[in-house]
Amino acid sequence: MSIYFDEQNRIFHLTTLHSDYQIKIDMYGYLLHLYYGRRTEQNADTVLTYADRGFSGNPYDADRDRTYSMDVLPQEFPVRGTGDYRSVALSLEDAKGTKGCDFRYVSHKIVKGKYSLKGLPAVYAGESQADTLEIKLRDSVLQVEVTLLYGVLPEIDCITRSVLVENKGGETVTVDKAASACLDFVTGDFDVITFHGRHAMERQYERTRLGHHAVTIGSRRGTSSHQYNPMMILADKEATEDNGRCYAMSFVYSGGFEAGVEKDQMNQTRMLMGLESEQLRYRIKPGKQWIIPEVICTYSDNGFQELSSQLHQCIRYHVCRGQYQLKPRPVLINSWEASYFDIHADNLLTLAKEAAELGMDMLVMDDGWFGKRDDDYSGLGDWYVNEQKIGMPLSKLIEGINKEGLKFGIWFEPEMVNEDSDLYRLHPDWALTIPGRNPVRGRSQLLLDFSRAEVVEYIYGQMKAILDHNAIDYIKWDMNRSICDVYSHEERLSGEVLYDYMLGLYDVLERLHENYPDILIEGCSGGGGRFDAGMLYYTPQIWCSDNTDAINRTRIQYGTSFGYPVSAVGAHVSAVPNHQTGRITSLRTRGVVAMAGAFGYELDLSKLSADDKKEIRQQVERYKELEALIFDGTYYRLSNPFEEAVAAWAMVAKDQSECLFSAVQLQIEGNMPPIFVRLKGLKEHAVYVDEATAKEYSSDVLMEVGIPLPFVMEDYHSEQIRLKLK
Ligand code: GLA
Repeated sequence: MSIYFDEQNRIFHLTTLHSDYQIKIDMYGYLLHLYYGRRTEQNADTVLTYADRGFSGNPYDADRDRTYSMDVLPQEFPVRGTGDYRSVALSLEDAKGTKGCDFRYVSHKIVKGKYSLKGLPAVYAGESQADTLEIKLRDSVLQVEVTLLYGVLPEIDCITRSVLVENKGGETVTVDKAASACLDFVTGDFDVITFHGRHAMERQYERTRLGHHAVTIGSRRGTSSHQYNPMMILADKEATEDNGRCYAMSFVYSGGFEAGVEKDQMNQTRMLMGLESEQLRYRIKPGKQWIIPEVICTYSDNGFQELSSQLHQCIRYHVCRGQYQLKPRPVLINSWEASYFDIHADNLLTLAKEAAELGMDMLVMDDGWFGKRDDDYSGLGDWYVNEQKIGMPLSKLIEGINKEGLKFGIWFEPEMVNEDSDLYRLHPDWALTIPGRNPVRGRSQLLLDFSRAEVVEYIYGQMKAILDHNAIDYIKWDMNRSICDVYSHEERLSGEVLYDYMLGLYDVLERLHENYPDILIEGCSGGGGRFDAGMLYYTPQIWCSDNTDAINRTRIQYGTSFGYPVSAVGAHVSAVPNHQTGRITSLRTRGVVAMAGAFGYELDLSKLSADDKKEIRQQVERYKELEALIFDGTYYRLSNPFEEAVAAWAMVAKDQSECLFSAVQLQIEGNMPPIFVRLKGLKEHAVYVDEATAKEYSSDVLMEVGIPLPFVMEDYHSEQIRLKLK
């Protein structure tokens, strides 16, 4: 068992292979956080210190003891109302609008296996791979019970947290702050690493010194967003890729979120992750239960590479599901950058023929095939095939594509509606708008209210009709705007609609997962605007960014790699000049960069020269040969493309028998000093052979000094070297 309760000292130990997490039930029944860090069997209760701190109030039970204050003690689940003035995990309001709560320990349960969450994505694991701790707390005035859920996955050093809030009283209570994970540190001098961005430039790495302030990120957009990823790292200020203590939190949720770190008056640090609170107001009626979505926590004292590796394993093996979780993914050709809205059987069949000749596996028909959809002003919501535009029935088109030996994939944007659509004309009230106000349009479209069962039912029905009558192997589930004008026709609060919207979305995705187990679903939101562990529960890969520029992608994929495995990253080779930046890079470099993900193409193949086609055929072949190593190898970041002249990374087989090294030179100068990239994770004192040139390298030299990159006179030259253990 990875969970142990020391009854005498009333301390819980949650133990993984390399870490330990301790919680104490104190004399007043409060839960205090003692420790999260390197594995130890010893109790850490000596971290608790007591002193009379001015303006830090004391619970009534402490009587004349002014040294006991929730304002300074490290807490496991801080709530608003106990005299803790830091950011809290939970805030409740009673029926009169009075804020305040005070939760005390009631009981606990330790069970084998990992808990699951009704209607929400969550880490899953076999009985032998995880244990669950449930700690029940109660507020005796509101008669609300809170159950803290902990899932411990010892082998991958991950601990998950989620919270059930149950109203056992007679009056409605309202939640206005809800975080599922809180970590309090009594010591430490930290940096915070976050991943900010924008459309077509997601997950940009940023490292900030933490002083006496709060560093808070989040999304108020109703989606996890391009602007901040719901993944955050807290690290010792000296921590590097290979050294130092660091902690990560990753939200298993795809809606608005809030994550923050703050340093308090006693130089203590608190890290929190949960739901976005500016818009959150959720009423829990008597007898009802409500869930705060899950956060994955992980710790390493060996720097960011190990930390990322733990998250990669958690997501690849315990979040992603379905047929394609561990299977090779089809190498696809996507029609978007090839022909945009110009969807026609002639184009698609030509594209399929070319793709088949180049060894690809699947054609994806992107936007433009349904309703009236020749641009992005109309059609969303009308999920029936526009046969007139395509030139034939969908089943016939698929037949033609299948005849070429390709599978067939299709694009949907199910959560959206255009005002110029049959659906909107029929059900204008299904769109999220506020009566009496003009709505904010995004890409000229509105959101369907997915918090309403009939809306979800209708959209699922439309998708089902297409899926049941056509041989579809893949769905690209897109979402191309942020949520606004949140209003309910059913007397519900905006905060309730935002949360229930996610339940509606997850409901459709779960039904697709269950009823169409053979279909691969790729997530997308204008590229990587909803790239999170929540979506990865339903879609094992997500289109990483609408930006297919190989050089920008080195940074986007670098940032993404901190929290997500390579198998989750949709990456395509596109045309040059690149459609997002105008940059020209070689086909080779575009291939090398896209091979750090679930690989595909997105360009008009008929415009390519015979040489390019030959090269693409070789790329596809090479990718297929390497996919197992790319997806299952341990991923190493070998440079920081935000600071260095080279972007470099490697995948090393778990048994160290081989390594795929990739590098893109970002800058070139006259008489350039040689660039050496130090490899990682190879077997020590061994010899590795470059399979292409038969050149032999000593692994120690590769790891201590590095592999020298050749000086090639061209912009953005790249290398991809497969090294095999001799
Ligand atoms: C979004 C996606 C693109 C493409 C278009 C279609 O921007 O990220 O890949 O599917 O929508 O409209």
